[in-house]
Amino acid sequence: MKTMWPENVGILAIDVIFPSQYVDQTELEIFDGVSAGKYTIGLGQDKMGFCSDREDINSLCLTVVNRLLERNHIKPTSIGRLEVGTETIIDKSKSVKSVLMQLFAQHGVTDLEGIDTTNACYGGTAALFNSINWIESSSWDGRLAIAVCADIAVYAKGNARPTGGAGAIAMLVGPNAPLVFDRGLRATYMQHCYDFYKPDLSSEYPVVDGKLSIQCYMKALDNCYQLYRKKFEQKFPDFPKVGLDALDGIVFHSPFCKLVQKSLARLGLNDFLLTSEEKRSIKYPGLEKFNNVKLEDTYMDRDVERAFMQAFNTVFEAKTKNSLLIANQVGNMYTPSVYSCLISLLINTDEKQLLGKRIALFSYGSGLASSMYSIHITKDCELLQKLLDQLKYVKPLLESRIKSSPEEFSELMEIREKNNHSAPYEPSGSIDVLFGGTYYLKNVDEVHRRTYERVPISNQQLTNGCQSS
Ligand code: ACO
Repeated sequence: MKTMWPENVGILAIDVIFPSQYVDQTELEIFDGVSAGKYTIGLGQDKMGFCSDREDINSLCLTVVNRLLERNHIKPTSIGRLEVGTETIIDKSKSVKSVLMQLFAQHGVTDLEGIDTTNACYGGTAALFNSINWIESSSWDGRLAIAVCADIAVYAKGNARPTGGAGAIAMLVGPNAPLVFDRGLRATYMQHCYDFYKPDLSSEYPVVDGKLSIQCYMKALDNCYQLYRKKFEQKFPDFPKVGLDALDGIVFHSPFCKLVQKSLARLGLNDFLLTSEEKRSIKYPGLEKFNNVKLEDTYMDRDVERAFMQAFNTVFEAKTKNSLLIANQVGNMYTPSVYSCLISLLINTDEKQLLGKRIALFSYGSGLASSMYSIHITKDCELLQKLLDQLKYVKPLLESRIKSSPEEFSELMEIREKNNHSAPYEPSGSIDVLFGGTYYLKNVDEVHRRTYERVPISNQQLTNGCQSS
């Protein structure tokens, strides 16, 4: 029987939002009393977005889904699946998806599959995979899917705090897309470990073993990449290139930008070790002394790390660096992080350079769940241009944010901390600082029911690129 799969399933449209307020990482270094350069050079972070108590996971998702629908003129009746990936849990039973139903039920749409998925920063990828799987399944009814990923990434005072951030991304998924998922090219690695987890349900903060989380991330990357390479070679046996050479762009989950640069170098190390010894000296001159290293012995090896970062710096510059704009300016968004990197790559690359190219994505969620997969970009200029035109607002919106002092940031963190799960509760965070069109928390009543309102879209914010169409 002929398979009636829809063709070219992928991302038709994508929208990102981030907090309107940020703290400067240089100022945070001084405030935290750490050595100058630790956050900016050591971690590679310039700014960190944060939310006051006016925003929560529901409001972020309402804002981003509403924006996606409005800006792309999508009729709610054309959506048949809505998935949410998040690790920002404010209710142990009621899903964020059910809150988002407010945007659909008012248009008579209640036949809408999908629910929330959680595993640290990986939930968004699971939501996206579920959406693609639905469209390629016998359950598909011809409508489109939306995968949402959103989080508020906050850490207790201490060395992890500068690796926070927040944001939300909504992706419209369907056939004939400009960003197409390569079929049969998903490589997954999952394990049990306690590198980062949130066992205290009364707190927004994770318990985190930072060094272990980085080792787990790298080990997951090694495993996913080797499997991805294997599947790639099986799928395209006649393709002349393998490994990094076969990819035009590589984007990663970005807890902090320096880790991404190290990750690209790590893929270089994998390629090096998977190349026969005689070819190595030609392809990778100067790295011979690492011929006998074993991947599993190198997680803490600074010599290897330094040598491969240097050797693969031009590859990093060419294939990954452009993906780090939002990650550097906003910080770790958790589930949306890897997709913010995809958006950054798209908006920082000339359209002609994108047509027909293949981009690999690495998604990592502590605990742990990880996948590497790839998308290929359409060769159809018009189709791609439509997607890129809708992303023109991102850079002006980043520029239009308001800088807060580390003192203000710290005070707002304390307010969030003190009032987490309080009921009844009236948030005190300013509404005036929010971007036009943002949903915000109006109040929480005595039985914990949350009410949201929306900031009007003012002319000022329209010129800042936040318009709704
Ligand atoms: N100038 C330049 N670089 C500096 C300076 C300075 N003055 N001071 C320190 N550095 C460098 C360090 O050498 C180090 O770089 P290196 O690892 O390349 O050598 C880097 O800055 C960070 O310094 P550390 O001392 O290693 O930082 P610390 O241990 O205090 O915290 C950490 C870093 C572990 C990442 C912490 O922020 C954390 O726990 N974050 C949350 C966990 C995390 O993000 N894990 C990643 C995967 S899981 C996830 O996504 C949540």
